[in-house]
Amino acid sequence: EKQLKGKDFLAIEDFSSEEIDYLLDQAAKMKKDFLAGGASKPLEGKTLGMVFEKNSTRTRISFDVGMFQLGGHALMMNPTELQIGRGESIADTAKVFSEYLDGVMIRANSHEMVKEFADNASIPVINGLTDKVHPCQALADLLTIQEVKGKLAGLKLVYIGDGNNVAHSLLMAAAKMGIHTAIATPIGYEMDADIAKSIEKAAEQSGVTMTQLTDPILAAKEADILYTDVWVSMGDDEQTEQRLSDFEGFEINDELTSYAKSDYTFMHCLPAHRGQEVSASVIDGDQSVVFQQAGNRMHAQKALLAALL
Ligand code: CP
Ligand code: NVA
Repeated sequence: EKQLKGKDFLAIEDFSSEEIDYLLDQAAKMKKDFLAGGASKPLEGKTLGMVFEKNSTRTRISFDVGMFQLGGHALMMNPTELQIGRGESIADTAKVFSEYLDGVMIRANSHEMVKEFADNASIPVINGLTDKVHPCQALADLLTIQEVKGKLAGLKLVYIGDGNNVAHSLLMAAAKMGIHTAIATPIGYEMDADIAKSIEKAAEQSGVTMTQLTDPILAAKEADILYTDVWVSMGDDEQTEQRLSDFEGFEINDELTSYAKSDYTFMHCLPAHRGQEVSASVIDGDQSVVFQQAGNRMHAQKALLAALL
């Protein structure tokens, strides 16, 4: 715990499997205490600032309520209302934030912005999604997998769809925790090449496989977990028509799930588009854990906040 105090949470890559393990352990304990009605309040008197350059339902609510449950306070700031909107620099803003706040959570258009903020802030900076990664989601996903499957190491997780921010963090997290992964994307929608290389390295270190494919059926074979995300991420909206046509055949539906293990689990970070990346029958079926997953955002982030702040 001591080593995590004051640290930023910008990407899964920056955390060791031991640190992730510790956070998952704390999250499970906090969830148990919360459900039993006797949660502790380790962040009394502390304030988390939250800046969202993009829309959010889960991230904003789970951080706000999570801080409240930890005895602290969350302060929501609209970037267009901050002086950033009139040209005040990221560096100056980060230094000013550090005078008032105990931590900050940022959802940004560009990963570079969050990095620049973190470089100039003396308080922990948590990445609440960028164009590159979504580490808070991956942490909650591991917690969910642990709950549903009773273990992490040795499982096979298959991601079907866009090689995007969610895929980057999820596969990195899985690789670090000894989960075999396969990803199937249409040609042209592969993961970022550099990130894919670091995931491969992490997988190698854990002694698991990471396979990049363009055939969803091949990828889905023997899957313990089938995971997908939207085909059109925030910021990709002008490509909607092209993407919907390029992703044809990548829907997780009853045909595709038949290639997975019979006790496969379906996961999605949400928001979802039924009839695009997933059929209603799958996401609303009894092997889907998407709302447990959404709920776990709060429990995982509470552990993260308590450790960093
Ligand atoms: N999964 C996720 O981050 O959801 P929001 O965009 O609603 O925060
Ligand atoms: N890949 C999606 C995730 C939303 C939580 C996006 O970036 O819009």
